[in-house]
Amino acid sequence: MRLLGISGSPREGATAYVVREALAFAASLGAVETEFISLKGKQIGFCLHCDYCVRTKKGCVQKDDVVELYPSLEAADAWLLATPVYQGTMSGQLKAVLDRCRALVARNPDVFRNKVGAAIAVGGDRVGGQEPAIMAIHAFYLANKMIPVSGGPFGSNLGGTVWSRDKKAEGAAADEVGMKTVYRTVERLVEVTRLLRAGEGA
Ligand SMILES: Cc1cc2nc3c(=O)[nH]c(=O)nc-3n(C[C@H](O)[C@H](O)[C@H](O)COP(=O)(O)O)c2cc1C
Repeated sequence: MRLLGISGSPREGATAYVVREALAFAASLGAVETEFISLKGKQIGFCLHCDYCVRTKKGCVQKDDVVELYPSLEAADAWLLATPVYQGTMSGQLKAVLDRCRALVARNPDVFRNKVGAAIAVGGDRVGGQEPAIMAIHAFYLANKMIPVSGGPFGSNLGGTVWSRDKKAEGAAADEVGMKTVYRTVERLVEVTRLLRAGEGA
């Protein structure tokens, strides 16, 4: 299976650290090919709602760095989207990428069908909006025929929730409880993706 991990932070900080750790853990489970993408330094335009994509079915009219992300988003069996918590929800950078996915869906409404998705949110505060951020990502999955998963009850209810204390990688690494929510989420993401892919072959 191909697992795509995206850090929705504009810098090399806690979120990128967490995604790298999560992907390394996924790879250690065996037979998982991983790809890491950071939104740091990327030119990401807002969706303009020009409807070029709907009218022409030729993708997005904007030729910025999001166009380079499209093939990875399409190819992966599973997505692990991670965001820093900004004002209690996902970062604008990640939201803009998700909005721009409309261009792919306009061409093929089933483009993301049955991909499995999990979410991680990294906040500076212990309870800073990690769960609303995760739910916002899950809404994208639901709206686009994807299958959202979490790590499950007693610890990882909605996904990976990390407390960085605004200390970048060092802060995230010190949050042992938070990192456990991430590993549990990844385990479930891999499990469900494998089940689905096996079912497709049945
Ligand atoms: C614009 C902005 C808004 C933020 N809003 C929140 C917030 O609502 N809740 C929170 O816990 N942390 C908030 N933070 C702190 C970041 O979520 C936190 O430092 C996070 O770990 C940054 O991730 P990074 O190191 O990967 O960039 C905010 C930071 C910025 C820059």
